[in-house]
Amino acid sequence: MRYLVVPSQETEIWKEYLISKEWLERKYSIENEGDKRAIPLSKFFPNKLPANLTNFEIIEKNAPIITPNDYLGHLKKHIGDIEFHKFEEFWPQSFDLIGELVIVKIEKEIEKFAEEISHSMLSQNKRATRVFQDLGVQGEFRVRRLNLIGGSKSLGGETKVKENGAEFVVDPTKGYYSPRLANERLETLECAIYLKQKLKRKLNICDPYAGFGPALMPLIKESGLVNYILANDLNPEVTKILEKNLIANNKEKITLQIKCKDARKLIENPKNGGLFDLLLVNLPHSTIEHLPLLVRLLNNNSTAILRAWSIIESEKIKQMEDDIKKLFTSLKYPISKIIVKPVRTYSPTQVYAKIEIWTN
Ligand SMILES: C[S@@+](CC[C@H](N)C(=O)[O-])C[C@H]1O[C@@H](n2cnc3c(N)ncnc32)[C@H](O)[C@@H]1O
Repeated sequence: MRYLVVPSQETEIWKEYLISKEWLERKYSIENEGDKRAIPLSKFFPNKLPANLTNFEIIEKNAPIITPNDYLGHLKKHIGDIEFHKFEEFWPQSFDLIGELVIVKIEKEIEKFAEEISHSMLSQNKRATRVFQDLGVQGEFRVRRLNLIGGSKSLGGETKVKENGAEFVVDPTKGYYSPRLANERLETLECAIYLKQKLKRKLNICDPYAGFGPALMPLIKESGLVNYILANDLNPEVTKILEKNLIANNKEKITLQIKCKDARKLIENPKNGGLFDLLLVNLPHSTIEHLPLLVRLLNNNSTAILRAWSIIESEKIKQMEDDIKKLFTSLKYPISKIIVKPVRTYSPTQVYAKIEIWTN
């Protein structure tokens, strides 16, 4: 790499001059050269020194290795400027990082670069060991179709994640998990702590759509908070991991039940009716439809809390709140507080809404 050596105090003047001629190499920074400064020269700088620069020395030195600060920088370095700019509008601008996994949507136009994209993402994210192309959700359990494009196949889809102080295993190739809802789960913990103080006893908690158990992990880790947990998920691949996660985090030796059935059938077991102080309902596309068969799981003798999440047309939020009030009234659960509010947008017309109801 060629550098033009100039007196320190004239650096800015000569830098501007080189820029005006497209002779400055912007990829590299200006370096100290004894008590002078060395300005990096672009490939357009002429081989024969221009007359006005003959007083200055040209030196050859190795350019410092630059580390790109995002995966796109790595990709550009890998495939070259020309290819990079040709497909500029298609490169993924975001991706999910779940434990050691990167999950990314790739447009058809750039699928042929899948290997280069995964290589760049692995170079940028030192913790990541596998990159999956996201082919969208499918089936009753809404599991992502994930195509491994980088990293070892033998590692499968399992990875450990840490959320709200708890560690647990998820496998996005087998079931649903989103790190984006971690804040909601923290709020659930805060509600539970408040409820325990109000009731002056440990809580019975039911998560009928528990997935890998991200909402339950901080609850069972909280000292003296929980008496009993019923964790359920209809996907058998998920409940196997859910069970391991609950056992691994159950330092308080809480009584646990793990079930794999349709949540709407939990109420058929007479022991479950009216048992739970806290009920979580996270099946956002069907929450409202399932709710009539879940409410009676709640204890009706003292304060109980329902925390649920639903995807809904934003203009129908008020209607949803009225329907929920009617449902609770018809089942003779007096509501003392109700919060129904959008947490984030889901589509141009739909929102992801949080529902929180306190009874008695
Ligand atoms: C949106 S995920 C929520 C998982 C977890 N609660 C979380 O927050 O990450 C919904 C879960 O419900 C499960 N599921 C779908 N239909 C069900 C049903 N009828 N009864 C019980 N679980 C069901 C799916 O397998 C999935 O794991």
